[in-house]
Amino acid sequence: MKLWNGRFSKAATSSANEFNASIEFDQRMYRQDIQGSLAHAKMLEKQGILSKEDYTAIKDGLTQILQDIEDGKVTFTIEQEDIHMNIESLLTERIGAAGKRLHTARSRNDQVAVDIRLYLKEEIKEILEYIRQLKCALAETAKAHQETIMPGYTHLQRAQPVTLAYHLLAYYNMFKRDGQRFEDCLERMDYLPLGSGALAGTTYHTDRDFLAEELGFSHICPNAMDAVSDRDFSLEFLGDASICMMHLSRFCEELILWSSAEFSFVEMDDAYSTGSSIMPQKKNPDMAELIRGKTGRVYGDLITLLTVMKGLPLAYNKDMQEDKLPVFDAADTLKASLNIFREMLETAVFKTENMRNAAKTGFMNATDAADYLVSKGIPFRDCHEIIGKLVLHCIGQGKAIEDLSLEELKTFSDKFEEDVYEKIDIRACIEAKKSKGSTSFASVKEQLENL
Ligand code: ARG
Repeated sequence: MKLWNGRFSKAATSSANEFNASIEFDQRMYRQDIQGSLAHAKMLEKQGILSKEDYTAIKDGLTQILQDIEDGKVTFTIEQEDIHMNIESLLTERIGAAGKRLHTARSRNDQVAVDIRLYLKEEIKEILEYIRQLKCALAETAKAHQETIMPGYTHLQRAQPVTLAYHLLAYYNMFKRDGQRFEDCLERMDYLPLGSGALAGTTYHTDRDFLAEELGFSHICPNAMDAVSDRDFSLEFLGDASICMMHLSRFCEELILWSSAEFSFVEMDDAYSTGSSIMPQKKNPDMAELIRGKTGRVYGDLITLLTVMKGLPLAYNKDMQEDKLPVFDAADTLKASLNIFREMLETAVFKTENMRNAAKTGFMNATDAADYLVSKGIPFRDCHEIIGKLVLHCIGQGKAIEDLSLEELKTFSDKFEEDVYEKIDIRACIEAKKSKGSTSFASVKEQLENL
């Protein structure tokens, strides 16, 4: 029988029951639901709303149910709709009248709101650990590749030489901010909604501060209607997850490009690659492609919940039951992606020789050649023009700037002297960067030290 059966003269059809139920997916929150109920019962007893005997029976009953769920001994039913009612009805089945007193001064609306927050707080802590591990892997790889020179790109055209360490540290900073975003999200989520009742508070002398302490929340939601209506903590989580997936996806895109024969900058480990069912020679970077693809799924999760919430009048509406699937999906996807990405990165072998050779072509020292002329007193715009013409000439000749003789160089500007060759050497171009946060070897070393 439904826990809310009293007002009804007819049972729901089985199709309605099935459509209405969320147990299939919200059973994931059984631990948080029991945790919330244990704290609630303890508070009710402390406030004299529950007798000591009832509280003990509830506590023992819930503890046993938790154990039984964990041992796989409990079968949830669609008839009891969701995890909240499944557990409550199971409790009453087992301990009788005391079980029926548990829902005093509480509604499923504040119950589900606290469950999902407790769930997300744990997920975010796990995600933060995955991000920490990825940052470590990036720092370690960067440390090993401080001397690995490669082309830096803009518009995917060779632009200026950089080091692989520098490139990796760019991602390090992105993931660092991702972690900070999740920490911010955690902080804003750290408000307890339990004790809000259905929407307007309760008539009992409850102690919400005690509940907050029991459940590890730093604050209580200051407005009960907000507490049961708001899902912006889930949206913020999904936004943060989307941004983090986007960073992973960009990196994956690079690894996919770099492992193509055309780039040949990296060799992914066999353990993180797949073959083709028809082409025997193939080795495909599927893990990276899948992370890139799953990024779309996580964006979808964010858009799903934004769309669910956008037209809802206050306070609770059943639409909000749809909040959990995208949240669970995004958390699972992000954790799996962060983990596999780190493993993939740790085992990838960078082809440093190919990277260095690529950096030698494509006139990556053209800016430095222009800077050389600036140092000889020519205004930068004029230098730009001179070197542009020089590059055009070189393209026609199939040569690099450094392949031209000093006499040839002097036909473009009489300011060229013998020292130009050392200034436009690819390593010197990197070394010469002086601004803070640059790709120079010294700056990258400092960036690594500051991590
Ligand atoms: N299963 C519901 C959900 O996930 C629990 C809250 C139900 N509240 C209600 N007033 N029907 O949203």
